[in-house]
Amino acid sequence: MCGIVGYIGEQNSVDVLLDGLHKLEYRGYDSAGIAVVENNDIKVVKAKGRLSFLEEKLEKEGRPEGFCGIAHTRWATHGEPSDVNSHPHSSDNLSVVHNGIIENYAELKQKLEAKGYKFLSQTDTEVLALLLDYYYDGDSFEAISKAIRAVKGSYAMGVIFKDEPETIYAVRKDSPLIIGLGDDENLIASDIPAILSYTKDYILLDEDVIAKVEKNSVKLYNSDREEIPYEVKTAQWDIEAAQKGGYQHFMLKEIFEQPAAFGATVMPRLDKNLPSFVSSDIPDELFKNINRVYFVACGTAMHAGLIGKFAFEKLAKISSEVDIASEFRYDEPMLDKNDLVIIVSQSGETADSLAALRLAKEKGVKTLGVVNVIGSSIAREADYVIHTGAGPEIAVASTKAYTVQLAIMYLLALRAALVNGALSESKVKAYCKELKSLPDKMLKILDRAEEIKKIAYTLQNAENMFFIGRGIDYSVSCEGSLKLKEISYIHSESYAAGELKHGTISLIEENTPVVAVATQEHLFLKTVSNIKETVTRGARALVIHNEGFELPSELAAKTFDIPVTENCFTPSLSVLPLQLLAYYTAVLRGCDVDKPRNLAKSVTVE
Ligand code: AGP
Repeated sequence: MCGIVGYIGEQNSVDVLLDGLHKLEYRGYDSAGIAVVENNDIKVVKAKGRLSFLEEKLEKEGRPEGFCGIAHTRWATHGEPSDVNSHPHSSDNLSVVHNGIIENYAELKQKLEAKGYKFLSQTDTEVLALLLDYYYDGDSFEAISKAIRAVKGSYAMGVIFKDEPETIYAVRKDSPLIIGLGDDENLIASDIPAILSYTKDYILLDEDVIAKVEKNSVKLYNSDREEIPYEVKTAQWDIEAAQKGGYQHFMLKEIFEQPAAFGATVMPRLDKNLPSFVSSDIPDELFKNINRVYFVACGTAMHAGLIGKFAFEKLAKISSEVDIASEFRYDEPMLDKNDLVIIVSQSGETADSLAALRLAKEKGVKTLGVVNVIGSSIAREADYVIHTGAGPEIAVASTKAYTVQLAIMYLLALRAALVNGALSESKVKAYCKELKSLPDKMLKILDRAEEIKKIAYTLQNAENMFFIGRGIDYSVSCEGSLKLKEISYIHSESYAAGELKHGTISLIEENTPVVAVATQEHLFLKTVSNIKETVTRGARALVIHNEGFELPSELAAKTFDIPVTENCFTPSLSVLPLQLLAYYTAVLRGCDVDKPRNLAKSVTVE
């Protein structure tokens, strides 16, 4: 997510602003910038890339001297990372920094262009800046009030006006914004870490309340311009804890962000309850006359491809396969010009996945990237790209990125099914309605995290573990096994439940933990008998199953039931206890959960 910092006081504002941006780096970003009031003018300096690039630019171009300024770290949503797309965005009268998405920016941009405004960037935030300018006639409050009434979407914004050199205005809707209360200085920020070096006292800005922040005064106004009281809170966290939102690790924070991330990925892609990829310029022709779909990726992204295959074959009746990118790139795959290669990648920079993309393009095959990082190599080189809505994923072990990848898999399969007639419109609408219910079902599972934590205590000394399932449950067990391995360092493997007896079951001995995923109703009893095979040989079983499906009492297994949903969508629910199990087991073993040994967040080498 983007990071906002603003400062008004007696210190050199550039020092405070840069310090605040560094404290917000954990949020992930791809560019940064500052705007400072200097000699009754606004000086703006901004740069693509790390904060160090901005700092170098400031040294080279000269640091503005002033006591009032705003600053921003950008996580690109509209327009790829670049100097010109970085914030702040300005007009002759003002500068603004913004976190959120202006959904009607295209319409507003057209109106502003018709009034003679010229745009320099591809961002929705520049539309906000010029809209504020359009409404500005010397009354800053009025300009902000009119602008927030005109925009649709989410925003947290800080605005400075040249005519008011010692004032910062702030207002938010959906995206968070706080006001730090210091001595002869005040701040605005997206999150607590940015202010903790200056004060622990802050105000949580309410929706659509406009704050006027000066060095010795903070006033809040409602939409009728009436001054309203505010409550002062005191931060309890230190900086590191605050960066994790109070969670012990980024991974746990990101596990709990999944319901919101899933919703943020699905909701903008539903139009009258039907899947729509208009916003990503994906033509329906892409789904017509497909010979075969190849899901090509690595690690967790490849596991998301397994779910994509299942969804495309079951919903859209399109033959699909999943390939490990490092295999695909040297396999001389027998691609047909009517194939579609879907590259799934959180970072968009994984070397093997990028190489697979380039190979497919060399063979004249259409390529679609499903990517979380805007402006990444895969996003730029694929013929088509869909950006997932996970926001920055800081922990090396992927959780919310997987969840939003699944959301896109479901929507793509449903769009394809609608386009090729595999499903009726009413059936697709019913599936989309169920998709909208998933975040609440996820929350129900996450609310029971303590149950999984208790189970983890029994696993912390295990040396080997098995994850088994049939069909899509086997696909999810692959992800559960990887999560456990990569952060707890316990050896585990995922196995097709029906295949165990063909050799591997010889590894089952007294107390071997076996985690079984059994959500597919038509396979439930089969999976139960496979679980029995392991338990009779001494295994300790944990079974993830649907509410309402009881296991035979003699199985003596630990169970965790999950809300019922469509078969294709069960991975979005059954993966949650597996992620939590891996997380709590790794914590109990004292592992570095967010930065596991030997691993990198993005594997940009072969
Ligand atoms: C997932 O937990 C791992 N960190 C790793 O397998 C990762 O999914 C894989 O390296 C692919 O990364 P990408 O999604 O950025 O391409």
